[in-house]
Amino acid sequence: MTGRFDGRTCLVTGAAMGIGYAIAERLGSEGARVVVADVKPAEGEDAARRLCDAGCDASFLALDVSSEDGWKQAAAAMESLGAGLDALVNNAGVEAVAPLAELDMAIWRRAMDVNLTGVYLGTRYMAPLLLAGSAVRGAGASVVNISSIMGLIGLPGSSAYAATKGGVRLFTKNIAVEFAMERKNIRVNSVHPGFIQTPMSEVGARRLAEKGLAKDVGEALGQMASMSPMGRLGRPEDIAAGVAFLVSDDAAFMTGAELVIDGGYTAR
Ligand SMILES: NC(=O)c1ccc[n+]([C@@H]2O[C@H](COP(=O)([O-])OP(=O)(O)OC[C@H]3O[C@@H](n4cnc5c(N)ncnc54)[C@H](O)[C@@H]3O)[C@@H](O)[C@H]2O)c1
Repeated sequence: MTGRFDGRTCLVTGAAMGIGYAIAERLGSEGARVVVADVKPAEGEDAARRLCDAGCDASFLALDVSSEDGWKQAAAAMESLGAGLDALVNNAGVEAVAPLAELDMAIWRRAMDVNLTGVYLGTRYMAPLLLAGSAVRGAGASVVNISSIMGLIGLPGSSAYAATKGGVRLFTKNIAVEFAMERKNIRVNSVHPGFIQTPMSEVGARRLAEKGLAKDVGEALGQMASMSPMGRLGRPEDIAAGVAFLVSDDAAFMTGAELVIDGGYTAR
């Protein structure tokens, strides 16, 4: 691997597992100092340890992205590391699957709090550090927000989740324009994964199996795979590669863009 992120510091939320872990691993393997932020301390500590064992410079930060106080403390912790922040990847998210009649306020609020408010809080409280990072190294800093294909199109039973992910898409575009027109050297882009094999999609597959819509988790995952023209589930590494591109200087003229990585799902 090249060291194209040597000397840079990247904070990835929800990095204890799944897509977030793969992003932290990819950025770390290319030289970044990665901060693994997650609400699950045991899993987060373990993830940071595995990244260090693989040769990355990684540390764990306990953070609930839906908590404003949590982000204030995270900003203070990052400040104490010095040299600002080069990339913030707002990846933490929760699924929320329920048809409208079963969509109670608790499900709606949790999805909003984590998936949408978490992205707003992270961007707001890390912006000063990103600005400092971009000034120190001269290269622009970067925010990458993980949305979803469900931030682009509808799928039955996903209205709460889709509302959060559509919100992330337009929040991204607005902040991208705001920062650019204020001549802040921070690019802001969104990534829209299709169905990716992670603990989250396994929870979804288990639910399909429990409802009798598939005979078991394996069959349910197979059904998800067959919905994409490429006929397979994405790997977390497929998303990490796109995020690494957006963080890199190769994407220096990209801001407010949406990068779809979905095996052709939304191309039909
Ligand atoms: N898996 C997919 O098919 C898929 C598709 C499109 C988009 N996404 C999005 O990608 C992102 C990652 O998904 P994943 O599949 O890896 O999920 P996952 O459930 O496998 O992992 C999510 C991680 O986020 C952490 N997290 C949850 N709530 C948090 C909070 N409040 N504060 C901090 N951390 C928190 C979890 O502890 C976990 O480590 C999410 O935003 C998800 O909506 C996933």
